[in-house]
Amino acid sequence: SIYSVGALILAYLFGSIPTAVWIGQAFYGIDVREYGSGNAGATNTFRVLGKKAGIPVMILDILKGWTATNLVSFIGLSVTGPAHSIQFVNYQLALGIVAVMGHLFPVFAGFRGGKGIATLFGMVLAVHLPSALICVLVFLVILLLTKYVSLSSISAGFAFTFSVIFIYQVSVKAIVIYGMCICILILVTHQKNIERLLRGKESKVNLFKKSSN
Ligand code: G3P
Repeated sequence: SIYSVGALILAYLFGSIPTAVWIGQAFYGIDVREYGSGNAGATNTFRVLGKKAGIPVMILDILKGWTATNLVSFIGLSVTGPAHSIQFVNYQLALGIVAVMGHLFPVFAGFRGGKGIATLFGMVLAVHLPSALICVLVFLVILLLTKYVSLSSISAGFAFTFSVIFIYQVSVKAIVIYGMCICILILVTHQKNIERLLRGKESKVNLFKKSSN
């Protein structure tokens, strides 16, 4: 329907809001894409500008995915079916993934964005809270063990895919396809990180360092 098309366009526009770029430019006069990993995301904002900029970017990027996913209610239950039904979750995942595409290719920042992890997490929060908690747990455990944000992100993304497929059953083709798309998306956006991980050249975070920011 016209409402689903409208919701998908809005989801893309939400995802496109380049928070890392705008906050860096507005408050620090720099484009974070020129420093660190060159990524326009929360992780690189933490890396380049510290937590005063990183935390707001992270929260706003999560909010983008959450808001976009919740646009499902704009489409109307007569089309999507009742909340938590497979059809409903289908629409939610579609909206969330479109928001992530906006984050990756933002119309407001020359189509050079981030890797979509925070935005994906916003989608996960809106779709299934227990899975979101599992993702946070997986992310934190891997981060504590390895100090690699990228590896933690990849692991958490896979955890969500497995949990959503498990909850909505392997027999539901659409869910399995979305889940696989999410895994592939994460592997593609983290290609450079994976290469660096394999060469032992990926940057680690110092979780307990005192920072001046
Ligand atoms: O959320 C993105 C993270 O997984 C990797 O970011 O800047 O280290 O490439 P970065």
